[in-house]
Parts: sequence; C-alpha cells; structure tokens
Amino acid sequence: LQRNSNFAKLTQEHVKHFQELLGSESAVIDGLSRDASEDIESFNSDWMRKYRGQTKLVLKPQSTQDVSSILKYCNEQKLAVVPQGGNTGLVGGSVPVFDEIVINLQRMNKIRSFDEVSGILVADAGVILEVADNYLAEKKHIFPLDLGAKGSCQIGGNVATNAGGLRLLRYGSLHGNVLGIEAVLPDGTIMNDLSTLRKNNTGYDLKQLFIGGEGTIGIITGISIICPRRSEAINVAYFGLESYEQVQKAFIEAKNQLSEILSAFELMDGRSQKIVNTVTGKKFPLEGEYPFYCLIETSGSNADHDSEKLQNFLEHVIESSVVSDGVLAENKTQIQDLWTYREGISECLGHWGGVYKYDLSLPISVLYDLVNDVRDRLTEAGVVGNDDSFPAVDVVGYGHMGDANLHLNVAVRRYDKKVEKLLEPFVYEWVQRHNGSISAEHGLGIAKKAYIGYSRDETMLKLMKQVKDLYDPNGIMNPYKYI
Ligand code: FAD
Ligand code: MLT
Ligand code: ZN
Repeated sequence: LQRNSNFAKLTQEHVKHFQELLGSESAVIDGLSRDASEDIESFNSDWMRKYRGQTKLVLKPQSTQDVSSILKYCNEQKLAVVPQGGNTGLVGGSVPVFDEIVINLQRMNKIRSFDEVSGILVADAGVILEVADNYLAEKKHIFPLDLGAKGSCQIGGNVATNAGGLRLLRYGSLHGNVLGIEAVLPDGTIMNDLSTLRKNNTGYDLKQLFIGGEGTIGIITGISIICPRRSEAINVAYFGLESYEQVQKAFIEAKNQLSEILSAFELMDGRSQKIVNTVTGKKFPLEGEYPFYCLIETSGSNADHDSEKLQNFLEHVIESSVVSDGVLAENKTQIQDLWTYREGISECLGHWGGVYKYDLSLPISVLYDLVNDVRDRLTEAGVVGNDDSFPAVDVVGYGHMGDANLHLNVAVRRYDKKVEKLLEPFVYEWVQRHNGSISAEHGLGIAKKAYIGYSRDETMLKLMKQVKDLYDPNGIMNPYKYI
C-alpha cells in the first residue's frame, strides 16, 4: 500500500490555519499539545495495537460549524482526514494509514435534548456511550445498544460502525433505532437530517448510508435515537453445556419460554472462559468445566415473574439434559460478575500479545464448525501450543448467538505470517461457502477491505463505489479503507 500522492502534505501554513480556526487547545500537533499529558501516539494507534499511523495533527472540533470549516478547507487543500471517536474499533478504521489528519469528536459531547414521552434522545456524536446510558438511566430509559467498550466508545462511532453488541436480539439494529443524523460532507456542507420522527417516508433514507459508513462519506456530528424504557427487573443466568447441539436446543427453549423478556443470548466456548479465568484470576461461575457456556439475560417489568420464568427455564433445560449445570445471579454484583465472563473476553485475549479477529455471520447450524476446522488446521500445522515456541496460544469462539454472529479469535504471542497464511483466505472461503458475511458488526476498516468480495458481488461493489465518489469526489475521507 502506497501513500496517494494526490493528497497534499501538511505544511506549517495549514497548521497555522487550523490554530486560528479552532484555537490552539483544539489541536494536538506533532505530539506537542497544550495538555502535556496528551500524546499524539494514542491517536495514531488502535485498540489492538495492530495498526499505526503517522499523523502529525489531531483536530478536536467543538461544534458542527467547526467540523464544516475543517472539512471545507481540507477538501480544497486535498488534505486527507480520518474521523475518530473513542478509537475502540476493531478493524483499524479509526487510525490513519499514513499522515491523514485525525478529526477527533471527543469535545462534541453534549446531550442536546431528551423527550420523556417518546424516549427520543438527541445528542452530539462525541458523547461516550456509557455517559449517554447513565443519563438515560436517570430518566428510566436505556440506550438501545450495549457493548464491552461502552466506557470509551462514542455514540457517533457506534453509529458510524453500525455496532451490534449484546442486546441487538432485543432492541434491533441502529438502522432501525437511529431516527436522524446530522453530518458534515467532505465539502463542508452540513446535512441536517436530525429528524425525531419515527416515521418519515419522504424520499431516499440517506442517513442510512452514514450508519455503518465508517467515516468514508462524511462526519457524523449529531444523532437522534429512540430509546426504550429501562426494565425494572434484570436477571442473568450462566450455564454449561456438553455440545454445540445442546447450545442450539437451549436457544430454541430460551426463545420459547422467555420470549418477550429475553434480552441477550450469548455464547462462549470453554476455551474462551478458561482464558478469562487465567487472565483475571476470577472464580469460575460454575464448579465443573464444559466445552460450551451460555449467558442469558432477561429484562422485564416484574422481578418475581421474570425470575420465576428464568428459574423454570433453567430447571426445564437441566431436567431434559440440554444444560449440564447453571447458576442464576442473585444481585447486581453477581450479574456484573457473570457479564465479566462474557464482556471480558476481548481484553483477556490480547494478554499474550496479539489476536487475529474474525467477526462473522453464519447460518446458526454450522456456526461453531468453523472454530473446530480452524483449530484442527492450526494444530495440524504445529503453530498452536502451550509454550513460547508456538506463535499461537489458542483458537476460541464466542459471540452473539441470538444474532448468529460468531467471533472467531486466535490469540497469539506475536503476529506471524505463517499463522496468517493458514487463516486467510481459508476463513473467508469457508464463510463464502456457507453464504455468511465476513463482517457481521465490526465493519471493514483496513483489516477487511481486501476481502469484501467474499460477501458482496461486483454489482454491489460498483454501486458502493459510485456512492463514495458522489459524496467524496476527492477521496479525502478515511482513504485506503472500506472499499
Ligand atoms: P472509533 O473506533 O473511533 O471509529 C470507528 C470507525 O468509525 C472509524 O472508521 C472511524 O473513522 C469512524 N467514526 C468514528 N466516529 C465517527 C463520526 N463521528 N463520524 C463518522 N465516522 C466516525 N462492536 C460491536 O459491534 N459489538 C460489540 O459487542 C463490540 N464490543 C466491543 C468490545 C470491546 C472491548 C472493543 C474494544 C470493541 C468492541 N466493538 C464492538 C467494536 C466497536 O466497533 C466499537 O467499540 C465502537 O462501535 C466504535 O466506536 P468508537 O467511538 O470507538 O469509534
Ligand atoms: C464482542 O462481542 O465481545 C465484541 O464484538 C468484541 C470482540 O469481538 O472481541
Ligand atoms: Zn461482538
């Protein structure tokens, strides 16, 4: 990959322009910022420490107008940019590839309005997800998205990646929940589609292009989103199972018996749980060890009714030998502890040095077969094992069972060409054969860009490229990524 020579290189004159535009506090320049604690390095490298850019300038606009002025100038000067939220993305999309200017939204962090009757929240794109959810909790509502990175990711970043997360099964995707978007196009035009209407069939629904657009056609500066009432009662169960067959049966039973109160059904294999146990030292939730575990959450309005239902469900699946052992959380701390065994996986997997991550949609019946096939493949090639001579530590599978979304992860001691060659294109070919998707919820970024053809045909790619060219004719928005 080579730097596109059509893009201008940053000069002192450009920097001076931005400083005059935003004030020196809103720029981090070549590692020297007003705030001495701030290092440009953190804006250049991603959460997995796998991708590293070389920007010399980070801009932190405080208003939509700031974003508009920045982009207009960048477009005129042919300066390439990378929109950046909380920088928790998992496909290398949020950091520069070369010297692109980072436009970080962290200073655009105001809640604009909340309507208690409709449950519609309007907020700046840079509001941290957990901050938005805590605000909503005070109003007895919930943000219809939750994920492990909630303490750092921004709602604008969530929308830009169309994040799925832990409760999509209950609340649906951001394509349905986001009602409006305010965004700035590369030429500085402010697209005000910040509608708070549930229904609006007046022409093409252009905001949908920004949901999952990964910052390639504009910068999202504000969103409006419909938020459900927060459930009074939350219950969590965690259980062990002997086979993937049993997991599928448990899923059918959960939908059957818990139907309207089911808010999460997550799958973790035994190896992923062992890794959490090893890295965190936290006590295993169950006595025995099983090849598979599931975490179920229910959310409803009547605690007694819900826990009775969940208890009955658990008794039924244990009696019918679908589930081997299970535990119900009895208070908030236990709920949190059980969730740690699911939400903590991503962080723990990075413990040895690196992770090869595959975020896949697959038909539920074959979902775990891929993990077995990949493990066999790496084992036969002699690259996975317990001591330092092996590059790979383990092959694990976990994910959002309720959405048929598998996270296949290979934890490694070091990124290694041999391991990579065994994984790719093997994994993508496998997914294509089963009519799956090579990116279920994390997006394409730079990591998956080259593989989009495994999930989209030529006609679809051509249409996507036409959209990109229409919105961003100079190609300054998040170049080298996506398509
Ligand atoms: P960033 O990482 O900063 O950016 C992501 C992409 O969006 C980049 O391409 C960037 O250019 C673009 N972007 C960011 N902000 C804007 C904006 N305002 N306008 C236009 N483009 C923008 N994802 C899931 O789907 N489900 C999960 O369960 C999940 N769990 C996670 C758990 C952990 C521990 C981690 C680290 C990540 C997880 N993710 C998950 C990945 C997920 O994509 C991100 O956490 C989140 O959605 C990205 O938000 P962010 O603000 O960090 O965006
Ligand atoms: C998750 O579900 O935990 C996230 O998508 C992050 C990951 O895949 O590790
Ligand atoms: Zn996920």
